[in-house]
Amino acid sequence: MDSLLTELAAICGPGGLLTEPADLRSYVTDWRGVFVGNALAVARPSDARGVAACVRACAAAGVAVVPQGGNTGLAAGATPLDLERAIVLSLSRMRTIRSCDAIGFSIAVDAGCVLADVQSAAGAVQRLFPLSLAAEGSAQIGGLIATNAGGTAVLRHGSMRALVLGIEVVLPDGTIVDGMRALRKDNAGYDWKQLFIGSEGTLGVITGAVLRLFAKPAHRATALLGVASAADAVAAYADVQEALGEALVGCELFSDRAVELRIAHEPQLHRPIARHPWYLLVEASSSLPGLRGGAEAALALTLERGHAGDCVLAESSAQSEALWSWRETITENERRAGRSAKHDVSVPISRIPAFLARATEAVECTHAGTRVLAFGHVGDGNIHFNVLLGDRAVAHEVNATVHAIVRDFSGSITAEHGIGRYRRDELAQHRSPAELALMLAVKRAVDPRGVMNPGAVLNPHDAD
Ligand code: FAD
Ligand code: MLT
Ligand code: ZN
Repeated sequence: MDSLLTELAAICGPGGLLTEPADLRSYVTDWRGVFVGNALAVARPSDARGVAACVRACAAAGVAVVPQGGNTGLAAGATPLDLERAIVLSLSRMRTIRSCDAIGFSIAVDAGCVLADVQSAAGAVQRLFPLSLAAEGSAQIGGLIATNAGGTAVLRHGSMRALVLGIEVVLPDGTIVDGMRALRKDNAGYDWKQLFIGSEGTLGVITGAVLRLFAKPAHRATALLGVASAADAVAAYADVQEALGEALVGCELFSDRAVELRIAHEPQLHRPIARHPWYLLVEASSSLPGLRGGAEAALALTLERGHAGDCVLAESSAQSEALWSWRETITENERRAGRSAKHDVSVPISRIPAFLARATEAVECTHAGTRVLAFGHVGDGNIHFNVLLGDRAVAHEVNATVHAIVRDFSGSITAEHGIGRYRRDELAQHRSPAELALMLAVKRAVDPRGVMNPGAVLNPHDAD
């Protein structure tokens, strides 16, 4: 192993290879601090050739490669758990914005670029990179592509898959494949990049990407609505979608428990509107004038139909940000509140109220001491049905209760976070044998020696 570490150190250059246990700790621990793995080293090459050389050296030595971006993933996909010999391959030194084409509405970046930096680079030329999520100050483009991340603007702009024009990847044998094309239309053969989007580091290392940009909208409207029930929340979502149409960017749901959790940590804060069981945060934007009038009409419609009880429309961008902070701090506040069982489910939108009612009753009655903290991207049918566990409840037992109900609702056990290692053992219950066989066939074809992120998504024994 010493010779591999010497080779990796030479590839990565000064400060590029970490081997001290204290230096490795944050890389082998997931964002929640729940999963702690083991690695021989953390390699931080500075370009795609360095990544390729690291992968080639590891493959030759029979050492697994676990790609890691900002380590904000919520499925333990970047955590080297139960691996005898693995390195973490961190993209954190690959942060160059390669080029930004304002006329072509595209940007080419290194995979280690942080999302917030890409948003800023686009903004500097009056363009918008629309992907947005609470971890945007740390999550990297490579990680966002590898998980096909969603976030709060999917309703209007789609998940990461819809925003990727081209990618550059390093295959498990060290080949660099350059697909950094900025083309809107390209039917020349298989669209192989789609395989890597959402592959969670199990097929190769994404080292670069060309992303779509949009016009930076001149007008923005943000509103918070108080609603009495989950049924009213989905009805109010339909009202604002009907009234705002293509101007609607996102529609987020959270319960009053999320508000209580925040106020417990920040007692100086006041509720932004009168207390309700649920809240809907609505974001709209447009380059055309008249958005504010449109937003007022949308709110009037849903109030008139009795779906919302109260609402506030932000008067400034500072007020918009203040309203968003109630939504964006939920995950951090959940982490502070102690152990929790995470769920990232999707069900048909109209069935969200029935799902919430049934899953809440099943969890809180079956697992003593638990409290449901449900929130999420209601316009995508994607609910983070997270559960505060208290002292006794066991996360995987709670997961099983929730996921059985998801199956009854013909939903998905992960809408945006991915399978990783957290949900791996449940995948077989939610995909048919034919689908699993197809996934294994892809894995074996691209990574026959099982170098890339073994144990994530697929069971390593099945992948042999
Ligand atoms: P990591 O956590 O480092 O890795 C995630 C996976 O991608 C791993 O399997 C890893 O092996 C693989 N990977 C990383 N980089 C590469 C690469 N260059 N090549 C190949 N594989 C790679 N997610 C959402 O979808 N929507 C949300 O709204 C959302 N909100 C969040 C809010 C908070 C507060 C937090 C902490 C997380 C949130 N997440 C959300 C989850 C997380 O931010 C996303 O999954 C994000 O895409 C992970 O990016 P990352 O760079 O941190 O990847
Ligand atoms: C979010 O939407 O804030 C995250 O994806 C959710 C989570 O913490 O489960
Ligand atoms: Zn989410």
